[in-house]
Amino acid sequence: MSTPSGFARATLRGNGLTFRPATLDDVPWAVAFTTARDPSEPGNEAQMRHWWQSADPERVDERWIIEEGGESIGYGYFGHPLWARSPMRAARLLAWFPRDARRPDRLGRAFDALESHAVSDDALVFTANSLEGFDDEYETLVARGYREDRRSKSWELDLIANRASLEAMTATARERMKAEGIEITTVDSVPDPNKWRKLHEMIEASVQDIPTTVPHTPESFESFMRWMSSPGLHADRLWVAREGQAIVGVSVLEYPPGVGNVWTDYTGTSRSVRGRGVARALKCETVAQAIALDVTHVRTNNDGENKPILHLNEEMGYHRIPGHIQLLKTVAVA
Ligand SMILES: CC(C)(COP(=O)(O)OP(=O)(O)OC[C@H]1O[C@@H](n2cnc3c(N)ncnc32)[C@H](O)[C@@H]1OP(=O)(O)O)[C@@H](O)C(=O)NCCC(=O)NCCS
Repeated sequence: MSTPSGFARATLRGNGLTFRPATLDDVPWAVAFTTARDPSEPGNEAQMRHWWQSADPERVDERWIIEEGGESIGYGYFGHPLWARSPMRAARLLAWFPRDARRPDRLGRAFDALESHAVSDDALVFTANSLEGFDDEYETLVARGYREDRRSKSWELDLIANRASLEAMTATARERMKAEGIEITTVDSVPDPNKWRKLHEMIEASVQDIPTTVPHTPESFESFMRWMSSPGLHADRLWVAREGQAIVGVSVLEYPPGVGNVWTDYTGTSRSVRGRGVARALKCETVAQAIALDVTHVRTNNDGENKPILHLNEEMGYHRIPGHIQLLKTVAVA
């Protein structure tokens, strides 16, 4: 039943809820809903539209508007890489509802439907996410047999308060990269016609070193380019490190057009250059550019076990904000 799709394949029904397949017409509602659920993280229409319509033929991504009594009350998602490509049959289940007293009950009823759907799709592991501070969600999931698997650390960097120290760190990092013989530049100014292929390969290799429970499924070049063409990314703000003709590092901030927080989308370096200050130099350039663009704060999120990047965040002056919690449930096979 693993047919790839950017939208839901079917309507789900159960426990008084109807999961109606979402369409692009639902994007404005979903943005307003997402923003109301967590006002500190406003949704962005252009970005949401981009991802909803970027159907990846190597993934299943299903999105629904959850209705009760004819009223839209929540957002549902089910997704995973095609099983043929995936090292683990792990699927992500999500049901978002407003933060009110009805949320635990609604979440439980929605997960009944989502879990049945996941079983019929041959998933063997369910993953669900919650946010630190959303204790009712967390407790509902634990009561359903989910256990906390990983806790990420999210951070915010105040670019006004930390401006002087960041500028000093950037100056030192530039000197170090000169001494190391590593060029730090934006990808638009790299003349190499193979730069996108090289960047894709470098990122795919480094992603394998992110601490994780569910192994990373390799992403195709086409899927990588869909990411590169998303509305928040700009080639003249995507910083790369080069050693000779090789691309050995990347760091990029995603700038939501109009509304939303600026987040680090990815930082990674090749194993061959680790520990030489390349990630620090790249991250410094991304924030120096954000300061020049009058951005006041940037955010980042990393796995709680990812010691090198957490160390760099601390050094740069990031402070903690609520992080994401990944919970996991293994399906009992009869
Ligand atoms: C995280 C990553 C980008 C760091 O790249 P790097 O080029 O080695 O980074 P740098 O050399 O600039 O800095 C690494 C820092 O971490 C420190 N570090 C390394 N291992 C550490 C550990 N186990 N505990 C604490 N600090 C550690 C290094 O000493 C260095 O700090 P210093 O400059 O103060 O000495 C790289 O390991 C990577 O690509 N990992 C896989 C992808 C990833 O996890 N990306 C980030 C999350 S999306």
